[in-house]
Amino acid sequence: MRHFRLWNVHNVAVFLSVTLYMCHIAGCISIHSAQRNLSRSVQEDALFSVDVSSTGVPTIEWTFMSGAGSRSIGTWQPQGDVNITADYSSRVKTYENGSMILMDLRLQDTGFYLLTVTEPAGSSKDVGFVLRVNEVLYEDLQYLSITALALGVVAALLMLVTWLLHKACMKVKAWRLRKQMPENDETELQRLESQPGNQS
Ligand SMILES: *[C@@H]1O[C@H](CO)[C@@H](O)[C@H](O)[C@H]1NC(C)=O
Ligand SMILES: *[C@@H]1O[C@H](CO)[C@@H](O)[C@H](O)[C@H]1NC(C)=O
Repeated sequence: MRHFRLWNVHNVAVFLSVTLYMCHIAGCISIHSAQRNLSRSVQEDALFSVDVSSTGVPTIEWTFMSGAGSRSIGTWQPQGDVNITADYSSRVKTYENGSMILMDLRLQDTGFYLLTVTEPAGSSKDVGFVLRVNEVLYEDLQYLSITALALGVVAALLMLVTWLLHKACMKVKAWRLRKQMPENDETELQRLESQPGNQS
């Protein structure tokens, strides 16, 4: 049992020293990323989250690829220059660990994003991300506009009915008044004539 464990520890030590040696010779780059398939809506932000580590100071480069071709988004070094392409300068935020945020997404941002990490010695490693930008609000907006239209029609109908009722009421009132008016006038007149004080 103890023998087995010792053998194990020995193995790990050999593995580590070989790895370190290889890193020393060829440069060692590791790129960790949890989520490489992103799906976002128009106008949202996308965080391309990675954690880059290497023996030397790495140069980080992001490239966008789509059916229309490929173009560079930006190049930077941790604690160094940050060069972002003019097209992206207002929408990209960069991080020391190699991550970047692409803000205010558009449908045309859908595509493949390639991260290339290069060491001073010349070795490099890359990782690809897929971003899909969806136009989700569209159906909701359509539904909303139809609902608003229906409500508007109902409101207009209600207003029309109210107006018609009001008009009908006024007509009935006027008709009633006209019907009552002559009688009123007569009785009033009679009342006035029969009053003795008025005849002096
Ligand atoms: C890289 O750094 C950013 C900003 O500090 C952080 O949000 C992100 O989670 C980091 N990514 C990884 C994989 O550690
Ligand atoms: C950024 O651009 C400047 C000037 O063009 C250049 O000298 C520098 O090496 C670039 N830095 C990176 C990290 O690409």
